[in-house]
Amino acid sequence: MSDSLRLVLGVLAAAAAGLWAWRRWHYPSFWLVLGYPLMALSVRASWRKVALGCGLTKKRQRWWFTTVPGLISSTGIVRVKRRFQRVAVDTKPFMWLPKPTRYGWCVTIHTLEGQIPGDYADAAERLAHSWGVHAVRVSSPRPGRVVLAATMRDPLVKVDPFPASTELLKVTVGRLETGGPWVIDFRTVPHWMNAGATQSGKSNLANALVQGLAPQPVALVGFDLKGGVEFTPYSPRLSALATTRRECVVLLEDLEELMADRMTLCRTTGARNIWQLPDDLRPVPIVVLVDELAEL
Ligand SMILES: Nc1ncnc2c1ncn2[C@@H]1O[C@H](COP(=O)(O)OP(=O)(O)OP(=O)(O)O)[C@@H](O)[C@H]1O
Ligand SMILES: [Mg+2]
Repeated sequence: MSDSLRLVLGVLAAAAAGLWAWRRWHYPSFWLVLGYPLMALSVRASWRKVALGCGLTKKRQRWWFTTVPGLISSTGIVRVKRRFQRVAVDTKPFMWLPKPTRYGWCVTIHTLEGQIPGDYADAAERLAHSWGVHAVRVSSPRPGRVVLAATMRDPLVKVDPFPASTELLKVTVGRLETGGPWVIDFRTVPHWMNAGATQSGKSNLANALVQGLAPQPVALVGFDLKGGVEFTPYSPRLSALATTRRECVVLLEDLEELMADRMTLCRTTGARNIWQLPDDLRPVPIVVLVDELAEL
């Protein structure tokens, strides 16, 4: 092996090792500087083929140069002619330049006539496989536009906790599959049903809610029909806890009485809810958490 070949191989090996180390130890900068530009180019370059394969193109009449067979010459050779004529061609939806995100990239698409965001949601798995990404999610910020958000890897494999929310009745209970925070805001949506299959994480979510709400100036009331195994550890922080059906009936009656008092207060002061009451009259908000509701 000549010296120059050895040198080239050495440089290539060092470059490969450097890239591997960069990707391994500082993935965000590797992704922004190298991964994202290459990915954006390949996504744009492959969009026609991908859209066609995923059934997202439409046939449109276009003036196009096409090759048509002409006459057979005396030597038996078929002459071909180039003709400018109107033909039906597959048109892809217009795609903007992909933008980098923390977990991958997102891109805005102009839908073609007759398409709805659901068409792209149905094709999301095909798109993910075509682009070799973990998942593609679809949203629509306004009519005629869809945003495809691709995640390169599963953001739930290694989850760093988010800082606790400081806003009243807002709790960051975990991370969404897009990598963003999963926030439950009881002021915006006061009623939630936490339903799911056995071992799907219902009690885990209830625990996260208690932990998130505990530092806030709210009263917490627990109904734990699993014999109290979930909420009893929090009993010093709970204003009330019922763990049997009999206790639940008594606690529900107490809460009903409290609610009636608050409704009377609101009615007499012209408020429609406690948030419209003056600060000095506003009672402490109560959050009621129920585990194993089916047992009730
Ligand atoms: N967010 C999560 N991340 C990782 N693992 C979880 C998560 N939530 C739940 N688990 C796992 O799933 C198991 C079941 O969770 P949990 O007890 O909350 O489910 P459940 O729906 O309340 O079950 P059951 O129907 O039996 O009451 C937990 O022991 C935990 O190991
Ligand atoms: Mg449970």
